[in-house]
Amino acid sequence: MTDAAARPPVILSPSLLACDFTRLGEELATLKNAGVPWAHVDVMDGQFVPNISFGLPILAAARRASDLYMDVHLMIEQPERFLHDFAEAGADGMTVQVESTRHIHRAVGQIRELGKRAGVTLNPGTPLEMIRPVLADVDLVLVMSVNPGFGGQKFIGSSVERVRTVRRWLDEIGSAAELQVDGGVTAANARELVEAGATNLVAGSAIFGAAGGAAAGVQAFQAALAEQA
Ligand code: DX5
Ligand code: ZN
Repeated sequence: MTDAAARPPVILSPSLLACDFTRLGEELATLKNAGVPWAHVDVMDGQFVPNISFGLPILAAARRASDLYMDVHLMIEQPERFLHDFAEAGADGMTVQVESTRHIHRAVGQIRELGKRAGVTLNPGTPLEMIRPVLADVDLVLVMSVNPGFGGQKFIGSSVERVRTVRRWLDEIGSAAELQVDGGVTAANARELVEAGATNLVAGSAIFGAAGGAAAGVQAFQAALAEQA
């Protein structure tokens, strides 16, 4: 178990999917003022996942409104087709689903060639071995803890063990990649995920749906993560 004091602060990446889009700029400013470094941007195409969210114009608007790190999660078929466009629209990092491309190694390489940080992710039902060949080639590994497509779903408990396994694999190769978890993450399970090796947490409904708004939601996470294990 890592010494809590030696760990860098956990990066919180609130999912804009749950924000009030009529007030996108204000929501981003609230996050910034609360000390959050990243914003998570969920792009869904109605093909890879059974839902459509939003795409390039919303990312571009978020980029114009804020200097937060734009953490773009691409839940789209053949993401290679759009990596250049999302980079142009303001992504700082792009995470691709291993199931969405026949050429995951090429896709993460293309993200880095665009000068962005490359992430790989996989659905809860996908064997972890699928991402192992590219672990040395990415800056972020995302363990999905719900089936992607919708916010507000229940955390799948077996994801904790998957986080532990990926943590071990990253440590074995000396990778400093972020280990992110997305789906059903709340202030109540944040600590357990960090103890399992996560360095980066996505949360949508737990932040934007908090009584008291996003600032209160962020504070709940900060308080939970500050508690001694
Ligand atoms: C799910 C998305 C998530 C989602 C998380 O498909 O990838 O980022 O917005 O929402 P919550 O935190 O509400 O589960
Ligand atoms: Zn996401």
